[in-house]
Amino acid sequence: MSVRPTSRREFLQLSAAASLAAWSTNGRARGASSLAAPPFASASASLAPAALERRKFGKTDMQVAVLGFGGAEIGFEKTDPATVAKLLNAALDAGLNVVDTAECYLDSEVAIGAAIGARRKEYHLFTKCGHTNVDGKRGEDWTKEGVLASVERSLKRLKTDVIDLVQLHSCSLDELKKGACIEGLELAKKQGKTRYIGYSGDSTTAKWAVESGRFDSLQTSINVADQECIELVLPLAKEKQMGVIAKRPIANAAWRYDAKPENGYHETYWQRLQTLEYAWAKGDARKNEGVDGPAATAMRFTAMQPGVCVLIVGTTKPERWKQNAALMEAGPLPKELHDAIRARWKAAAKPDWTGQT
Ligand SMILES: NC(=O)c1ccc[n+]([C@@H]2O[C@H](COP(=O)([O-])OP(=O)(O)OC[C@H]3O[C@@H](n4cnc5c(N)ncnc54)[C@H](OP(=O)(O)O)[C@@H]3O)[C@@H](O)[C@H]2O)c1
Repeated sequence: MSVRPTSRREFLQLSAAASLAAWSTNGRARGASSLAAPPFASASASLAPAALERRKFGKTDMQVAVLGFGGAEIGFEKTDPATVAKLLNAALDAGLNVVDTAECYLDSEVAIGAAIGARRKEYHLFTKCGHTNVDGKRGEDWTKEGVLASVERSLKRLKTDVIDLVQLHSCSLDELKKGACIEGLELAKKQGKTRYIGYSGDSTTAKWAVESGRFDSLQTSINVADQECIELVLPLAKEKQMGVIAKRPIANAAWRYDAKPENGYHETYWQRLQTLEYAWAKGDARKNEGVDGPAATAMRFTAMQPGVCVLIVGTTKPERWKQNAALMEAGPLPKELHDAIRARWKAAAKPDWTGQT
């Protein structure tokens, strides 16, 4: 155990520091964008969210609803267990079938286990290991034994006998190359503790993980303010038939802040949006909650990137999942708008606009 982050911001700073060497040498690919995006929702916006398209999750046996649930917010925002129970049960009733969390998201795993452990057969359960959370003490452990112990703790906290997918939680390229953490995860799979294994991370480290051929899935940042992976990683992940999970898929809704957000975790995307100046994400357009407003535009953009299987939007609000599912029923963005977002990114992105952990 080496470092002990106590907040989401610290966790990210530590992860970023570990990956800095890899990121600093990274360059963005600048080829043409692909638009081979199938429709992902019903034609009618009046249908219930349960009508959301389900996608095959890579080479696995899972069919995932295109809108999932990201469990970091409920952990780091310390959402009370009753609200988590209301949120998750309502979402499951409305068609949610992917719940993603991590051992280090404070009490997120415990809250999820308590809220919906009894409905375990109704959802695919994804978690992450390596950034540990033992008796309230947090740190990193990428040894084979450390990874296995992390998986064991997750099984208990999530109240389940088997997890569908355990992902290495953004370890550095050095740790991936050392290989012990991958061996630990492979052993957990062999022992039947997790059905599939994945890597969660970004930029050139994510590319290495995909190229290694050792993982069933990749979780990576994909959104209107974080597009590096669209050419750097997604085509290869698609070619290798990996399940792809879009994290931070709504760009932390960073347009909602009038000024630089106090929440440092949302600051990078807010800064990027100031430069990108998308017409639909500035001024009064930010208040549009419809299918052409910023939230829907951001999610629809992410969902139409080739290879993406599921968007795990984070929220602490019980009504949010259903609202977002309804917005996504509008389907892919018009081609012109999609292409304009890609073109603006290519024109404005700075060399350090790499995938954000
Ligand atoms: N290294 C890693 O592996 C890693 C890193 C980051 C994230 N993740 C995973 O990815 C998940 C998602 O990432 P994230 O939560 O950081 O980012 P995100 O999903 O892009 O953004 C979540 C934020 O968007 C807001 N939001 C959602 N829908 C909205 C809407 N329709 N209108 C306005 N605001 C809306 C939520 O606020 P409300 O509470 O108001 O809904 C929340 O503050 C995490 O929960 C986690 O599972 C993994």
